Amino acid sequence: MKVCSIIGARPQFIKIAPLSKELRKYHQEIIIHTGQHYDQNMSKNFFEQLQIPKPDHNLGIGSGTHGQQTGLMLKKIEEVLLKEKPDEVIVFGDTNSTLAGALTSRKLNIKTAHIEAGMRSFDKRMPEEINRIVTDHCSDILFCPNENSKRNLINENIKKNIFVVGNIMSEALIENLKKAEMESKIMENLNLKKKEYLLATVHRPSNTDSLKSLKSIVTAFIESKENIIFPMHPRTKKFMAMYGLTKKINSSSVKVINPIDYFDMLILEKNAKKILTDSGGIQNEAFLLGIPCITLRENTEWVETIEQKANMLVGSDKKKIMDSVKTFNPSIKKREQTEKPSIVIARILEKFE
Ligand code: UD1
Repeated sequence: MKVCSIIGARPQFIKIAPLSKELRKYHQEIIIHTGQHYDQNMSKNFFEQLQIPKPDHNLGIGSGTHGQQTGLMLKKIEEVLLKEKPDEVIVFGDTNSTLAGALTSRKLNIKTAHIEAGMRSFDKRMPEEINRIVTDHCSDILFCPNENSKRNLINENIKKNIFVVGNIMSEALIENLKKAEMESKIMENLNLKKKEYLLATVHRPSNTDSLKSLKSIVTAFIESKENIIFPMHPRTKKFMAMYGLTKKINSSSVKVINPIDYFDMLILEKNAKKILTDSGGIQNEAFLLGIPCITLRENTEWVETIEQKANMLVGSDKKKIMDSVKTFNPSIKKREQTEKPSIVIARILEKFE
């Protein structure tokens, strides 16, 4: 069987790593990298660290508006799929690369599988929510991380070929944590001690592109006077400069650093007192590692983390952020994941050949 995996952004590099290994035991896999993320620290480092095979096609699409980026992807992915003629296409998560991959593949009548299907925040202002809905509705095989996401699909009248396989991002975490502990020097490099700092990430357009939200979040970080490590996404860096917030943060107890690789991120997450984030993947990693997570959004697709009281939604409200930094101290059980979604997914894909 010839399978084509389509990836483009950081979280997808993490998700493909365990699956690619498993698929290649029995099948031919080709990888298309759309080039949505292209910097050394947003892309290349992940390939090296996670030992992801070199993409067979790098489309070099890069940044742009949603229309430009998605449009270019549709055109270029189609060219590759016509040439490669895979039996199945796999897309991951909820980025523009996911949407473009699923749409192109389905229109060419290639069996299309979506990993992390059925996730919903029920907030259509998020580009990722549109990407999730459209991708699920044009995919043939839906791999859900949990029962909740399966229910979401059924509620949208998608009833066939839904498989709850567990969370592939957790599999990557479990597989890599030991290696990260051995190889990462981030704690020493930043002179950090366990549980004496908070870790923050912000990259959602609803937080970064609005002066009001970004200023409120950054002011909360600064005024909390906590030692906060803040690996800054390029989008956030751009808007921080545009809104004149860079100087303010640089003269505070918040330490801004460049985006970091996967191993360093796992280590910073594991040793943090708390995590502040608007990322879906990081909410989930915090949950697995048993670290309290303060989510800088009004909603989340990772409902389980809220139900288990390990995660708290505070949006971009300065007071709520500052209060939760002080008072959100849940006791969280570390979660064990025993299943290996990569093995289950590879087996199921065979049946659809
Ligand atoms: C994308 C995904 C988001 C995911 C995130 C992970 C969509 C709609 N969003 O958001 O779901 O959580 O990736 O990080 O697909 N840039 C660089 N170097 C890079 C990549 C991006 O400088 O290597 C800059 C560009 O200025 C670009 C901006 O970051 O305009 C945003 O990048 P983009 O890929 O459009 O979306 P993300 O915000 O990263």
